[in-house]
Amino acid sequence: MSLEVGAGETVGLLGPNGSGKSSLLHTVYRVNRPASGRVLVDGTDVQEGPARRVARRVGVVMQDVPTDFPLTVREIVAMGRSPHKRALQADDPVDHALVGAALELLDLTRLAGRRLATLSGGERQRALVARALVGRPSLLVMDEPTNHLDVRHQLALLELVGELGLPTLVALHDLNLAARYCDRICLLDGGRAVATGTPAEVLTPERIGAVYGVTATVLEHPSADCPLVVLSP
Ligand SMILES: Nc1ncnc2c1ncn2[C@@H]1O[C@H](COP(=O)(O)OP(=O)(O)OP(=O)(O)O)[C@@H](O)[C@H]1O
Ligand SMILES: [Mg+2]
Repeated sequence: MSLEVGAGETVGLLGPNGSGKSSLLHTVYRVNRPASGRVLVDGTDVQEGPARRVARRVGVVMQDVPTDFPLTVREIVAMGRSPHKRALQADDPVDHALVGAALELLDLTRLAGRRLATLSGGERQRALVARALVGRPSLLVMDEPTNHLDVRHQLALLELVGELGLPTLVALHDLNLAARYCDRICLLDGGRAVATGTPAEVLTPERIGAVYGVTATVLEHPSADCPLVVLSP
């Protein structure tokens, strides 16, 4: 497959379970090494040079992160600064300011002193997003970041991602969230990209039927400039 995420663009990765979304994202932030081809971030191959370089450039919100370490929300978010620092280097005023701003942005200030393990799933997810942003990455990669979020926080998160103006590659399952908030969608099926384009181009009843095996009706959204997908078995 070939996929480009342009400046300020949010690109959604859609596809059934096991279609390869997480595998592709792992390749982007160097957990997987591609068998062939390459991934460039800011023009540099992510496989080249030290792993820290990728960590500095790519902010990551992974799927299913372990949460049983005894750190507070503020400490977890501050970890997002570590690729920019030497071992054991203390946090400086810039780090503190970035961490404070990320906590504020994700509505976490009130929870900053709480241990991650004591948070609800959605609160925890927001802490992981704050951690990804605090390193000021040039690409944001998120794997199903709206899991565990209530509807308001789902919309708020994707709204925020749009406003950040960061190139973002995000795996999603909700076709309507993708239609509403992604500039472009790449639809995967069986490890291959079967369609890439605007939400209206990609989310057709035929394609949704072929890839997911469900019946879809695609309507005009009543209040936004995007398709609205109604599904039935
Ligand atoms: N390390 C691995 N070794 C072998 N197979 C793997 C590995 N990681 C993933 N796979 C397989 O590759 C396929 C794609 O997995 P992947 O996790 O990328 O799917 P996904 O699209 O993210 O699915 P989901 O929506 O369930 O998160 C699956 O069949 C999975 O079993
Ligand atoms: Mg996945």
